[in-house]
Amino acid sequence: MLKGKEIVLGVTGGIAAYKAAEFLRLLVKREASVHVVMTRNAQEFVTPLTFQTLSGKPVVTDPFALIQDEKIAHIALADLAELVVILPATANILGKIAAGIADDFLSTLVMATRAPVLLAPSMNVNMWESAAVKKNVEILIQRGFHFIEPGEGELACGWYGKGRLAELEDVIEKIEDLFTEKDLAGERFLVTAGPTQEPIDPVRFLTNRSSGKMGYALALMAKRRGGEVVLISGPTSLRPPRPVIRIVSVRTAEEMRKAVSEHLPWSTVV
Ligand SMILES: Cc1cc2nc3c(=O)[nH]c(=O)nc-3n(C[C@H](O)[C@H](O)[C@H](O)COP(=O)(O)O)c2cc1C
Repeated sequence: MLKGKEIVLGVTGGIAAYKAAEFLRLLVKREASVHVVMTRNAQEFVTPLTFQTLSGKPVVTDPFALIQDEKIAHIALADLAELVVILPATANILGKIAAGIADDFLSTLVMATRAPVLLAPSMNVNMWESAAVKKNVEILIQRGFHFIEPGEGELACGWYGKGRLAELEDVIEKIEDLFTEKDLAGERFLVTAGPTQEPIDPVRFLTNRSSGKMGYALALMAKRRGGEVVLISGPTSLRPPRPVIRIVSVRTAEEMRKAVSEHLPWSTVV
């Protein structure tokens, strides 16, 4: 899905900048064409050489860089981009974009592009919860910027709370979602997946070899394409699809039948 997509990856000066290298690798693995732009402060954390090696393209670090002789670089890249992802996004870059400041290559490119911009913030919990950052996020959401919220957990600064960079696979899912046409919006999908188990006694049960993979994949695509989804799942070893989908867990065939009957009137597609 990301094959050949022109993606600008903006890297700013947060501790999670090292994760941007792994993220770049995930994009390249999906054959996206990735152009990395680093702020001056990002280069205090990771070297441009890492990104150049992984992307196979020059990394823009200089506000006055030229990509092609006659073209102004930030405009050329802003025009070329189909998506701009800033990962990690510092409190500083959020503030600059919200305030309309364009004082380096990345912030100027964001102002100049018409492509969607996805921001993946990462910072100390107190910074994330500060009135300034909250206000800036609100402003940016209102203006149509996309966010992948930070997760909760132990932070590099030693604090515990919200502020750590979202899981990279979740960011990839968000990007694939952004590139997917919402042609199934308005449809309500009822998907069944996985095996059922019929207990023989408290230890043993009869089951079948269903893995659930097909149902999970259908549920994921229906959701990505804008549908609402209820996934009725027998016991599987699969992780739930990354977009938030309502999952009803069942075990026996009778539980599966009941759950399906309950949701049938709600659904438009089974
Ligand atoms: C060791 C260290 C770690 C930092 N980590 C973060 C961070 O995770 N998130 C953040 O918003 N700022 C962080 N900062 C502060 C930013 O580097 C600072 O606000 C800087 O101006 C960001 O510049 P940029 O947005 O142009 O890259 C950190 C600073 C230092 C010295």
